Amino acid sequence: MTIPEISFPNEDKDFIKNPYPYLKELREEYPIHYDKSSGLNLITQFEDVKDIQKSKNFISSEPQDYTKDADEKLINPKDYDYFWKTEEFNLLNLEGNIHDELRGLVAKAFLNRQVQELRPFMENKSKELLDKVNRGSFDLLADYAQPYSIAVIGELLGVPKEDYDKFLYWSHAIVKMYDLKVSDESAAEAESAAKDFYIYMNNLIDEKNKNPQNDMISRLSQVSENNQQLTKDQIICTVILLLNAGHEATVNTIGNSIVALLLNNISTKNLNHDFDIKKIIEELIRWDSPLQFFQRWVLEDTELSGIKLPKNSKIAMLLGSANRDETAFKNPEKIDFERKNLNHTSFGGGVHFCLGAHLARLELEVSLENLFKNEINLISDPERTGAFGIRGFKKINVSI
Ligand code: HEM
Repeated sequence: MTIPEISFPNEDKDFIKNPYPYLKELREEYPIHYDKSSGLNLITQFEDVKDIQKSKNFISSEPQDYTKDADEKLINPKDYDYFWKTEEFNLLNLEGNIHDELRGLVAKAFLNRQVQELRPFMENKSKELLDKVNRGSFDLLADYAQPYSIAVIGELLGVPKEDYDKFLYWSHAIVKMYDLKVSDESAAEAESAAKDFYIYMNNLIDEKNKNPQNDMISRLSQVSENNQQLTKDQIICTVILLLNAGHEATVNTIGNSIVALLLNNISTKNLNHDFDIKKIIEELIRWDSPLQFFQRWVLEDTELSGIKLPKNSKIAMLLGSANRDETAFKNPEKIDFERKNLNHTSFGGGVHFCLGAHLARLELEVSLENLFKNEINLISDPERTGAFGIRGFKKINVSI
């Protein structure tokens, strides 16, 4: 059987609201579907996603001899000068030795011990924000999750508090480039944000070099391995990646998690007394993954689930779909805090496994423990942002 062709409904509001029934149909029909509009082979089954993450034959940077189809809709980052300057050394797009060396150096500046030292800061920030909200009605994202997450990543990196609003804006604008389809308007906005972000970071790194502090930007300038150090452009790309990756996914996990609980009639009050908070977090990230897909190129002709994938074809691993695969998870539609299998795909796997998973898990633990001191209620039906790739809400009106 040839790979079935579909038009993936990523702009359909009902699909965005709940993509899982459609993804289940795809999974059960055939392991791979070809999306005509994006040119991507969609991989929906758990085992296939895991195999791709472990394989060296699926790479996240464009192969050298790759020629783009004339009708290909996905953007080429190299067409945007500043966006490319902020992407060139983005770990997510690198492979082989350059990836491993850069990742090794960044990891040395991002140790678990250094992350755990942030716990008191997180506790204070979470409490301070919750004390300030209007308990009768507030936006869980704008009034709590966003300022919390940006403050944590800002504190880790050592960026000035007065600039947090700028980071939020830049980060929102840039991450739109990662969706399945990008409008010209969004691309222009992302390019302009990348320019401002790049210039800002360039200056900040100069300042940190003159006056190093106990923060990650200073550490990134200092770490070395076998006499190798990070270049300034590598540091800029890494800091921007950490801000973007570290911020959006964490905010959306807080939002998706609370909405998942409330729409499934699970009371938030003291949830962590009845169940292990660490298991609650893993189950909620599995149930509604904040990052729904990642793309790869096929390096050499290969087979997946017995289906041929030619060299240079492109695939998307659908993490949210894999996490609902009934061959891997028993009753996958159910939120179950006593689930034995916590091996979800939401933090990726293999060489690109999320480098900030330790930070994300701690941020979520502190944050959810504080939120779970309250009975949270939805005031209105929360509206999705409309994006498929980065799955979240525009606004979540709640009372506590
Ligand atoms: C709940 C929150 C988060 C989720 C669900 C998440 C998920 C992911 C996933 C799925 C990948 C792999 C992408 C791929 O396969 O191409 C990844 C990579 C990465 N994440 Fe996260 N992430 C989260 C939070 C964070 C945080 C807080 C940071 C740091 C501040 C971070 C930094 C990174 C980095 C640097 C990479 C690239 C690693 C590499 O390519 O070697 N993430 N993340």
